[in-house]
Amino acid sequence: MSDKRVLLIVAGGIAAYKCLELVRRLRERDVRVRCVVTRAAKELVSPLALAALSGEKVHDALFSLTEEAEMGHIRLAREADLVVVAPATADILAKMANGLADDLATTLLLATDKPVLAAPAMNPVMWAHPATQRNVARLREDGVEILGPAEGDMACGEHGPGRLVEPEALLEAILARLEPGPRPLAGIRALVTSGPTWEAIDPVRYIANRSSGRQGHAIAAALARAGAEVVLVSGPVAIPDPPGVRIVRVESASEMLAACEAALPVEVAVCAAAVADWRPERVPSEKIKKEEGHAPPVLRLVENPDILARLARHPSARPRLVVGFAAETGELEAKARAKRAKKGCDWILANDVSPGTGVFGGARNTVLLITGEEPARRWEDLPKEEVARRLVAAIATALGRGSA
Ligand code: CTP
Repeated sequence: MSDKRVLLIVAGGIAAYKCLELVRRLRERDVRVRCVVTRAAKELVSPLALAALSGEKVHDALFSLTEEAEMGHIRLAREADLVVVAPATADILAKMANGLADDLATTLLLATDKPVLAAPAMNPVMWAHPATQRNVARLREDGVEILGPAEGDMACGEHGPGRLVEPEALLEAILARLEPGPRPLAGIRALVTSGPTWEAIDPVRYIANRSSGRQGHAIAAALARAGAEVVLVSGPVAIPDPPGVRIVRVESASEMLAACEAALPVEVAVCAAAVADWRPERVPSEKIKKEEGHAPPVLRLVENPDILARLARHPSARPRLVVGFAAETGELEAKARAKRAKKGCDWILANDVSPGTGVFGGARNTVLLITGEEPARRWEDLPKEEVARRLVAAIATALGRGSA
């Protein structure tokens, strides 16, 4: 990547400190990084630290005779392969959406002819504000790629979508754009299920689980990066849509099954969703009320359709490769092998979800890939994005498409 250049525009969000790590990680990959800071960003992250980590001068002033003499702002805007705005505050997004150019950062964003990737970070209420949402929609239409924001605890003490995505995810997105890489799955159709399902108890209550959708979404993104045409059928999640996939949002297992069947035929199906095994047998149309002197209601459950097994045993449109997950607590390999046989799928990715592993809802995973033909492959403590990348490489090999 030594010939690749990123222009990193750091705006004034509290998450600006994460840029230091991002610059370090990009430099490790030999990517050249030039940083531009806004006036507010200088209060939050040290330009000196950015200069030391990037090994380049940090730019901040539009009207600087010395800077214009050394490198005009137009050159600065064009001499990059990719422009990254991180953190992208509500203010800079608003300026970008409206074409304002009242400082160096916004002038460069208007003057560049290169792709722009923006990673928003702000308070969740600011993010949800119609003005911000309007600006983001307009930027997307203009071709700006928006990465995140992630959901979580905010520095301001609130909780919700608004966190800058982690440097690791930002790095991954930047590298993918700098070096699009081989597309071994071009022309292949793939189906991925992800997230939990919600099973209604009554119009306001439901049964759910703690699945975040991170692993399934990462697999959908990795398949798309490898060139596949991906349909992602997702239960309700709070993470951003992966780029380049067609997403079908569902709530219940029955809806998920219908959406999967509608997506057939596909060559590959990966079932990563944590589908509820059961749903309430009867869902009243009225909210169930507490009634004086009455015992609490008894929920009678019935089994949900097994989407993985249905796809694996589909009478007319079985995908060539069906991959399932096994979430187990103990005796991982034996239970996963039994599940593979029971469900009729080709491969199983088994993970240990015992309390304390942090896998369910977390960012990292340790998995066993069981293909049936060879000893299980163990992928130890990896970011879920890397598990996805390895799975996609294995899929490409299995389909005779080389490795992703
Ligand atoms: N799965 C599915 N539809 C269901 C239940 C599970 O498609 N109704 C899929 C999941 O997406 C996953 C795999 O089956 O790929 C295994 O799910 P898991 O919950 O581990 O297994 P269960 O079949 O639910 O068995 P158990 O809960 O008894 O371990």
